[in-house]
Amino acid sequence: MDQATSIVELHQYAQHWKDHKESIAFIPTMGNLHDGHLSLIKKGQSLCDRTICSIFVNPMQFGANEDFNHYPRTLEQDIQRLKQNGCDLVYLPTAYELYPDGLEHITHIHVTDLTDHWEATHRPGHFTGVATIVLKLFNIVKPNVSVFGKKDYQQYRVIQKMVCDLNLDVEIIGSETTREPSGLATSSRNQYLDSEQTEAASMIYKTLQQTAARIKTGERNYIELKNEAIAALNQTGFRTDYFSICNSVTLKPANNTDKKLVILVTAAIGETRLLDNIEIDLWD
Ligand code: PAF
Repeated sequence: MDQATSIVELHQYAQHWKDHKESIAFIPTMGNLHDGHLSLIKKGQSLCDRTICSIFVNPMQFGANEDFNHYPRTLEQDIQRLKQNGCDLVYLPTAYELYPDGLEHITHIHVTDLTDHWEATHRPGHFTGVATIVLKLFNIVKPNVSVFGKKDYQQYRVIQKMVCDLNLDVEIIGSETTREPSGLATSSRNQYLDSEQTEAASMIYKTLQQTAARIKTGERNYIELKNEAIAALNQTGFRTDYFSICNSVTLKPANNTDKKLVILVTAAIGETRLLDNIEIDLWD
């Protein structure tokens, strides 16, 4: 596996592949790679000739109350995992090259409509930080395809909207969430759960599945369904920030004519905030 830390080096590898008419899939990450990330690499490999993964803990997407300095950094282990999984190139940008004048002076990318609710309410400025770094990385890597995990569903839709609104020449692929046998979505945050919390956490996906099944069989009182789900989660010991039945593209609360839905949930147990979701297609 090749390694690039500067934009010039990255361009040398990527240009060589482009000269040979090889397509490039790009998977941006913040490292601490788990099976969910590796499934994005596999998806990229199934779609393109070459796969580039970036690892960069992006300071711009952390809030003042979020601990950027303590974000888990496991670079050696990440590089091993990427090698074992056949990634062609790992790009390890430096903050200096990406933000030469610091964060205050950089142009901000604000994606409208999708960033004024759900995670955005709990993490002000987060999606601006994500959209800005992802656009910069797209401009550097110039991939044909970029793969995002649907576990961070709002992020996936924000990036899709940015690409559409700004006419970017990259195809965004949403990759299905990988799960533990219990149904718990794979996440770097799972490592912070003790065994009791891990067991309780399987309740999140069960609640999503139960609510989705009721919608599929014709229940349409979304407020009632939402309130019941929140009550069930809170009874298990969660503090549920939101459990929202939404239109899967606009992420606005669903109405009775919407056919493609997603339920977004964020629930905290102990100090750990867990995100999950389920898509529902009422055309099926
Ligand atoms: O999902 C992530 O790990 C990050 O938000 C991303 C897309 C790599 C941007 O820093």
